[in-house]
Amino acid sequence: MPAIESKMTAVVLISGSGSNLQAIIDAAKNGSLDITIAAVISNRPGVKGLQRAISAGIPTRVLDHKAYADREGFDAALQQEIDACQPQLLILAGFMRILTPGFVRHYLGRMLNIHPSLLPKYTGLNTHQRAINDGEAEHGASIHFVTEELDGGPIIIQGKVGIESNDSAEQLANKVLKKEHLIYPQAIQWFATKRLQLIDNHAVLDGEALTSPRLLKEQA
Ligand code: GRF
Repeated sequence: MPAIESKMTAVVLISGSGSNLQAIIDAAKNGSLDITIAAVISNRPGVKGLQRAISAGIPTRVLDHKAYADREGFDAALQQEIDACQPQLLILAGFMRILTPGFVRHYLGRMLNIHPSLLPKYTGLNTHQRAINDGEAEHGASIHFVTEELDGGPIIIQGKVGIESNDSAEQLANKVLKKEHLIYPQAIQWFATKRLQLIDNHAVLDGEALTSPRLLKEQA
């Protein structure tokens, strides 16, 4: 009897354009990413990422955070939607919400996030402008496990770009996005193939705790 191929089930949370979602969809389609995306959930109605999911035949849901009285209520409803899909992995792809501690604990070790900076530098918002203002020579993006510390969970992989003297925040954001689209599928594939785990608050890849994040291959 032929073996039944079973891919890891993932749910993706978005808030906007969904270009990272697109990179993940494309990688899953071309066979370089062994996941099945069970659903894409947005906290904002009408965003482009929802269209991208629909075009790829992925079920979508909208859970507008404005319809909930507080963060706890929204996160509880979100958790219910996600858990209905029984995912082994939760992918935050431009999901612009601060999560409650209970939500984070529920998905601890199976929730990844992308952040547009070379963490631990520039947690929070406006990372590109802040890096330019500080005269940084380089900038980039990081994939990390989500823990209760905002943008502070163990870092898995980073993609770097140089900052040119005439770069605007928008130009820099576009350069960084190109790296985001490479590092996210890579980290997800490590997780999907069970090479990557969160153990004792460390990112462990191939049995070794990462003492520094991996870099995109072309930069390693
Ligand atoms: C990305 O820069 C991501 O790092 C940040 O929000 C942006 C989302 O872009 N958290 P997209 O929706 O994936 O195009």
